[in-house]
Amino acid sequence: MYRSHSCGELRTSDINKEVTLSGWVQKTRDKGFMIWVDLRDRFGITQLIFDEQRTSSDVMENARTLGREFVIQVKGTVIERESKNPNMVTGDIEILVNDLQILNDALVPPFTIEDETDGGEDIRMKYRYLDIRRNPVKNSLLFRHQVAMKVRNYLSEEGFVEVETPYLIKSTPEGARDFVVPSRMNEGQFYALPQSPQTFKQLLMVGGMDKYFQIVKCFRDEDLRADRQPEFTQIDCEMAFVEQEDILNIFEGLTRHLIKDIKGQDISEFPRMTYDEAIRTYGNDKPDIRFGMKFGELNEVTQHKEFKVFNDAELVVGIAVPGGASYTRKEIDKLIDWVKRPQVGALGMVYVKCNEDGSFKSSVDKFYDQEDLTKWAEITGAKAGDLICILSGQTNKVRGQLSALRMELAERLGLRNPEEFAPLWVIDFPLLEWDEETERYHAMHHPFTSPKPEDIPLLDTKPGDVRANAYDLVLNGNEIGGGSIRIHNKETQALMFDHLGFTPEEAKAQFGFLMDAFQYGAPPHGGIAFGFDRLVAILGGQETIRDFIAFPKNNSGRDVMIDAPANIDQEQLKELHIKLDM
Ligand code: AMO
Repeated sequence: MYRSHSCGELRTSDINKEVTLSGWVQKTRDKGFMIWVDLRDRFGITQLIFDEQRTSSDVMENARTLGREFVIQVKGTVIERESKNPNMVTGDIEILVNDLQILNDALVPPFTIEDETDGGEDIRMKYRYLDIRRNPVKNSLLFRHQVAMKVRNYLSEEGFVEVETPYLIKSTPEGARDFVVPSRMNEGQFYALPQSPQTFKQLLMVGGMDKYFQIVKCFRDEDLRADRQPEFTQIDCEMAFVEQEDILNIFEGLTRHLIKDIKGQDISEFPRMTYDEAIRTYGNDKPDIRFGMKFGELNEVTQHKEFKVFNDAELVVGIAVPGGASYTRKEIDKLIDWVKRPQVGALGMVYVKCNEDGSFKSSVDKFYDQEDLTKWAEITGAKAGDLICILSGQTNKVRGQLSALRMELAERLGLRNPEEFAPLWVIDFPLLEWDEETERYHAMHHPFTSPKPEDIPLLDTKPGDVRANAYDLVLNGNEIGGGSIRIHNKETQALMFDHLGFTPEEAKAQFGFLMDAFQYGAPPHGGIAFGFDRLVAILGGQETIRDFIAFPKNNSGRDVMIDAPANIDQEQLKELHIKLDM
């Protein structure tokens, strides 16, 4: 038996017990006649004591050879500590060791296995198994497990069934590139790894499963960011005989339950906002509503004077920054430099200081009088002491730029409190999105999303105006989930493929199986998928999902620990009928 107890378990009530513990050596202190060792496992740390007076000399000798991260087993007696450590749950006791086995020695780790480590990101990723021994990473993984259990229990209670769907499939379009896998047995042919189980979950509805969920890996070959990984996990869900309202209610319930259970916070009904309103008032489709700073559109009150920059702009739009009137000239110049960075891309920024005495001072006083500026303050909701920041130009670009500025300022002002949770449903997404590059419409969500029936006639006249029964769940400015009511008849699906520029033959070749299924009694259905990594990270008070994934990829999509992707040998290539031009 390797152990009778874990390293986080023993208390004063265990004093005098004979115990066996196994774990890693966190640190040793050798005072000559006495040696203390902190022994660590997943469950905690227990102090061991080797005492010349009470421990045999060969065990003492052995203890002197211990290095950091050695794996050992000890037998001994639980005794009361002379100097207790109130910061450790096991801090009242220690183990007087009478037997020590070294189960495995260890090289000196390349960084310290402490909460605050000296190891940079790269080295920690290369030795991720050592990083996982550290509390912050270990706790993130334990937290992830807890959230997964709560999700499974909740959905199972609600009558959902977890069904696994295949990974070796054919392309499911979710807007990214596919990772592909060559088939040895089918020369020249490839599987695609699922970007999501979308078509399979719809087929499960045709199959009568009624309520499906799966905590499932998805694969997308796209550029990485803090909230994106090439392989990530979804809580994927689908229900039959539902309308949008049913889906929103069920999954609002799940999210509310998680926030209550994990964070102890009661959230009442989630607010809802249309896509159009989100874009107009926050400049993006995943607004962080924990704070205000809503957009005020200023065209009407700015384009009547001689200021060419505004007069030439498609949109003039501003936000009020709380307390910003006190910024110095230098601070404002820095802000202007910030919006001009290529990542943001604004050409400049106009500002208005709203003085405490009710007067205004702007960077465009040459063109506008106090009466004009009063109107700007009204529209942006600026109060005495605030700073109005105004950007202008092409509508979509300006909205994106001001949205970036809004988030940056909120971050600097400490308005993005990670312990506050503000969920939001964004609804009524457009069905189609114009793609400049390919000069055609793409499905904004995916091609299986149902248009709002009343908007179907617009498909031929104004396709860009057709709204979808599609919705996103936003939490603190992050898209944590998205879904839609699906098309469930062959004709509408064919119409949709037609509008997306598929010929009937192409549609049949790629999605014939789904259209066929729709002919055998497909129920009305719809669903949603949560980004599980994102959900866990945000509930854990962070926005970087990497910290909540055991073995994540770096920004170039590499696993630096196992060194993947990697070359494969000629023999393997030959078997797969692949010739590389190299
Ligand atoms: P969607 O593409 O919106 O919908 O994905 C659902 C959710 O998955 C998360 N997500 C990601 N998380 C980490 N890394 C990524 N690369 C990544 N990409 C997406 C997001 C997102 O909201 N089949 C549909 C769902 C449906 O219609 O039911 C789908 O996959 O949090």
